[in-house]
Amino acid sequence: MAHVIDGKAIAKEIRARVKEEVEALKAKGVQPSVDVVLVGEDPGSLQYARSKERTAGKLGIEFRLHQLPESASQEEVEGLIKRLSDDPKVYAIMLELPLPKHLEAGRVLELINPAKDVDGLNPASLGRLAAGLPCFAPNTPQAVIRILEHEGVELLGKRAVVIGRSVQVGKPLFFLLLARHATVTVCHSKTRELGEITRQAEVLVVAAGRAGLVKGDMIMPGAVVIDVGTNVLEDGTTVGDVDFDSAKEVAGMITPVPGGVGPVTTATLFENVVEAAKRNSGVA
Ligand SMILES: NC(=O)c1ccc[n+]([C@@H]2O[C@H](COP(=O)([O-])OP(=O)(O)OC[C@H]3O[C@@H](n4cnc5c(N)ncnc54)[C@H](OP(=O)(O)O)[C@@H]3O)[C@@H](O)[C@H]2O)c1
Repeated sequence: MAHVIDGKAIAKEIRARVKEEVEALKAKGVQPSVDVVLVGEDPGSLQYARSKERTAGKLGIEFRLHQLPESASQEEVEGLIKRLSDDPKVYAIMLELPLPKHLEAGRVLELINPAKDVDGLNPASLGRLAAGLPCFAPNTPQAVIRILEHEGVELLGKRAVVIGRSVQVGKPLFFLLLARHATVTVCHSKTRELGEITRQAEVLVVAAGRAGLVKGDMIMPGAVVIDVGTNVLEDGTTVGDVDFDSAKEVAGMITPVPGGVGPVTTATLFENVVEAAKRNSGVA
């Protein structure tokens, strides 16, 4: 029976560490801050921005929301991002997605200064990650790494399998695992014999967005299973991509959904905000 990893407890530890670092920076005269750009009225994005504002407040981080109307033009949004990217008093930038349909998010993301791109969404950040240069990784893959570190999972020489190759999760995770000397295989929707590959994984990370994709018989006994998926079923319950009941009988460790990767993801965001304040204020 697998050890069930407590994502909420890990997130709490990360937040406590972030708070200490914020206080240490303030003592040196640096006020960590984050500038969040929200275009339009998407209720989900607004709610997410507000929840980040509350957490920032608890951690002592200054939160500045820049709200543009739904009708904002591409030039207006790009202008705001450029201004924030160039402003030396701005340490960290987040752009709430999705943008209204008439706007091209890709072009806007490319304008976020990589040194302030705490969500790691500028393609240049992924390029820097691939090249092993200082950068911010997207929060979800970073959260997966924090969980593995917290649980004392040694990656050197381990066989890791990632299901999913998205720019936000699967690909950055590939580079993060590779940088820690794992032997990494990335699977996707065209992968044949998925189970044969996953059964070789000592560390299996699933980020496909398909409820119940990975069943117990696809897992190597004793493997570490990290379930990134979040799928809301018709009855309103949220489940992961891993069939938890059958998987927990085989795995050595497993993250639940909810209460696994999700809470840690939000905490790592603030880890990046503090790191950006250090780097961009010249303190670190
Ligand atoms: N917990 C968190 O904090 C958090 C954060 C972000 C995302 N998520 C969740 O993580 C999941 C993945 O997110 P994402 O943004 O990476 O999704 P995405 O952009 O839709 O990518 C899904 C990936 O999974 C692959 N895939 C889909 N069905 C598959 C199958 N049957 N077998 C093998 N691979 C399959 C796709 O392959 P192709 O490339 O071939 O299409 C794609 O690479 C979603 O459930 C999302 O809600 C959670």
